[in-house]
Amino acid sequence: MPLVCSNTKTKSSSHSYEGISKKSLMRKFLVTGGAGFIGSAFVRLLLDEVPACEVINFDALTYAGNLDNLKDVDESRHLFVRGDITDQNAVLAALPPEVDCLVNFAAESHVDRSIASAGEFLRTNVLGTQVLLDAARARGVRRFVHISTDEVMGSLPEAEEQYFTEDSPFAPNSPYAASKAAAEHLVRAARHTFGLDTVITRCGNNYGPRQFPEKFLPLMLANALHDDPIPVYGDGCNVRDWIYVEDHCRAILLALEIGRPGGVYNIGARNQRRNIDVARSVLDQLNKPHSLMTFVKDRLGHDRRYAIDPSLAESELGWRPRETWESGLEKTISWYRDNSDWIARARSGAYREFYSRQYGTEVGAQ
Ligand code: NAD
Ligand code: TYD
Repeated sequence: MPLVCSNTKTKSSSHSYEGISKKSLMRKFLVTGGAGFIGSAFVRLLLDEVPACEVINFDALTYAGNLDNLKDVDESRHLFVRGDITDQNAVLAALPPEVDCLVNFAAESHVDRSIASAGEFLRTNVLGTQVLLDAARARGVRRFVHISTDEVMGSLPEAEEQYFTEDSPFAPNSPYAASKAAAEHLVRAARHTFGLDTVITRCGNNYGPRQFPEKFLPLMLANALHDDPIPVYGDGCNVRDWIYVEDHCRAILLALEIGRPGGVYNIGARNQRRNIDVARSVLDQLNKPHSLMTFVKDRLGHDRRYAIDPSLAESELGWRPRETWESGLEKTISWYRDNSDWIARARSGAYREFYSRQYGTEVGAQ
């Protein structure tokens, strides 16, 4: 069923986010993975920007999920349900018939973990997505929004002006990327076969508050704040396309409100950077020496370059990022500076085992 907002101005304007959600007919959301990094930012955005909406937040709280990520939200409009997206009965029990939109963030999300062991990635990212699609159909959910990644399109050559578009072929290179590609195929099939109203968004590397310190940027921050070495894989010249998490979430909100049924949108802030340059920026902002960078053994199958062409999201959704790299990094760094308890909890327990397996050294070892 076509959606929602007849705000034609949105389609022609270049920066027209404001006001759309106030007209949205979308009121009741089920968000999966909403206690993780991006999902929790999205829940916060929904509660702030869509008046009177209600959010059911369904999350298994794996190592990456953390209810502290949502401790400041309006609890009268936010219901947290702990559950696994591969558990059909649990999903159906959490999904009342009047839900307008299901937004699927829940995933195993770290490439290095998928290289070490792929099973959980297939279970959650592939089987879990199918369970959600079936449940959405069974309950008559109006729109299914699936959060995917640029990594389904593989790696771009380093030196050429080439970008991922929505028509780029799939070429996933890690078990994580392959599981996300499989999930996209299942979403597409649910639309083609059953007419489910679906939208897929594909984003690059997010950064911002509350990102678990297994990913490069928060790992660097957490280590550098403790004067610990920063592990840089290979020659450090791999390129990623960085986006501030709230900008990503605003693009998702627009896509769910005014995106085409069956639409796929690449979301990127035109912000390509080499890892080594990202590391230098972080160290400079923290007033820490570049000598904290330590070059370590490269990741197996390490994708060389990601670069997103966001033209379609810009023209069809009227989306633009609000943060520059500098402003986003400043917000991110000050959040990590101010939340040392959050970092300490994230770096304790099972993280210590993960870290020594992954890097062959203890967290905090000099
Ligand atoms: P994250 O690892 O921080 O959070 C994932 C969340 O999913 C956690 O709260 C976890 O508890 C939950 N989860 C995991 N398995 C589950 C299961 N079986 N059932 C229910 N909940 C489960 O991930 P993130 O970085 O916030 O990423 C969110 C989504 O965005 C993922 O789908 C990821 O593939 C995609 N994405 C992430 C990035 C990025 O840079 N982080 C970029 C593009 C796309
Ligand atoms: P990561 O945050 O794992 O995201 P992705 O692999 O999904 O892009 O890694 C970002 C980049 O940083 C990637 O090129 C790998 C690199 N990297 C390091 O150099 N050292 C690290 O310790 C990690 C985790 C990543």
